[in-house]
Amino acid sequence: MNLRAFLHGRFAAAFGTVGAVGAEPMIGAATRAEFGDYQANGAMAAAKQAQTQPRVLASAVVEALEDVDFAQSVTVEGPGFINITLSPAFVGEQLRQVEIDQTGCPDTIVVDYSSPNLAKEMHVGHLRTTIGDAMVRVLEALGHRVIRQNHVGDWGTQFGMLVAHLEDVREDAPELRDLEVFYAAARKRFDADPAFADRARHTVVALQGGDERVREYWQRFVDISLSHCRAVYDTLGITLADEDLDAESRYNDDLPSVITDLESAGLVTVDDGAKCVFLDELETPLIVQKRDGGYLYATTDLAAVRYRSAHYRADRILYFVDSRQTLHFRQLFAVARKAGFANESCTLEHHPFGAIMGRDNRPFKTRSGDVVKLSDLLDEAVRRARGLVASKNPELGTEEADHIARVVGIGAVKYADISKHRASDYVFDWDAMLNFDDNTAPYLQYAYARIQSLFRRGGVDPAALAEAPVISNETERRLGVALLRFQETLEQVASEALPHYLSGYLYGLAGDFMKFYETCPVLDAPGASRDHRLKLCALTGETLKRGLGLLGIETVDRM
Ligand code: ARG
Repeated sequence: MNLRAFLHGRFAAAFGTVGAVGAEPMIGAATRAEFGDYQANGAMAAAKQAQTQPRVLASAVVEALEDVDFAQSVTVEGPGFINITLSPAFVGEQLRQVEIDQTGCPDTIVVDYSSPNLAKEMHVGHLRTTIGDAMVRVLEALGHRVIRQNHVGDWGTQFGMLVAHLEDVREDAPELRDLEVFYAAARKRFDADPAFADRARHTVVALQGGDERVREYWQRFVDISLSHCRAVYDTLGITLADEDLDAESRYNDDLPSVITDLESAGLVTVDDGAKCVFLDELETPLIVQKRDGGYLYATTDLAAVRYRSAHYRADRILYFVDSRQTLHFRQLFAVARKAGFANESCTLEHHPFGAIMGRDNRPFKTRSGDVVKLSDLLDEAVRRARGLVASKNPELGTEEADHIARVVGIGAVKYADISKHRASDYVFDWDAMLNFDDNTAPYLQYAYARIQSLFRRGGVDPAALAEAPVISNETERRLGVALLRFQETLEQVASEALPHYLSGYLYGLAGDFMKFYETCPVLDAPGASRDHRLKLCALTGETLKRGLGLLGIETVDRM
């Protein structure tokens, strides 16, 4: 259950009873323990409307609350805040049902993420698209219909050069095992050899014109590049499959009609031979067709918006793309709206992410100044985690230690990314992300493993415990409230597209669990409280596992 929504309902009714009809109760999680679990801050604004004292109104609202069984106390504080502390009985009872609530009105949500350029291999920056993968998992868990779209770049001018080079090398050429090397070799020829450069340019034209032989070579290159992506997705546990591919080339045949649609909407101005859309709300025009007839990234994106809105009947289209493309998306959305390419009820949302920086606060590079290949970075993560696992638990067998190292290493890298506010840049720091004491994946994975070990030691089957625990002290109550906040956290992630709310939630939950675990004996607890506490442990373990799972991070039963 969504506690916030529940309280919202109760308080909205009470505001209505005291005459503040339509007042917004403004329920939020209390920022400090002494303010209770939640605060209702709506009395201030409502009192202004009703021209009375906020404290007077707040007190009347508290009086008017019906059925206050849910609370242990509801008090008016300061200028008119209402502090709400949930009752132990209510908390225990609600914990009977901790399944994720599915929404009654599911949306169709298109999520564009990953979307690398296939000319090169995925680099460290593409790690940030794991945010998109966490989002699709959360949206699906809440019952929405999600359509993943991997809008890979496979159509730009670079492909002429790459295909021309591929025509000259053998297909089993070792350099194809490393696309960076392949790209560099093609580039070198392009720069040094005018005849080759010419051929490359003709190759693009032939490709886009549908020349079969060129198409075949291009397809081979695309397949090789996609196999590199697939390997990264497998390692990272990204849920993108082949059927989610929505390559730029898919829209090639639609591009002329994008231009004619824009023209019939009266939106096109020819400027120095190029077709542009000028809109009052845009400081710079959007070029949709170059002077030589060529189309642009933006033209393809317009075709994609039109397709996604019409074909999938999307209610929301989400783009998880680098913040450097903010202007592109602003232009794209404005033009798409003007042209009627998106249903009016469909929201177009760019959810930008910042850059990954090195410890020197400059873009993260290898020591020699090259871009960091994502596959290399992930190998290193597992290697580092392997060392840590071996030192923490030397008795583990090789196979188990390898498995744990993979789960911890990959989890650490992903979590480090997801746990930062998406829009800000962050510093990539191995020591910080592999630390077992901070807001990291290893910390949460360790908390989970510890709970599993408790059940092993006690010889207890968590499935055999009673459905709802009886809450008997404040530490237990707080842990119970934390457990109940899972649902509202997921809903917040879904509406704001900010998965770091979920990692922050899990970190807080693990903290509340540790406090409970330090002060409340579990296996040695007297009488019935042993089972109730074990139940709280089981629920915490489940929530950690489920929450991490929604971030695409695995857990292990011991580490
Ligand atoms: N391929 C693009 C790049 O690497 C990202 C595409 C993002 N999605 C989109 N629909 N524009 O920069």
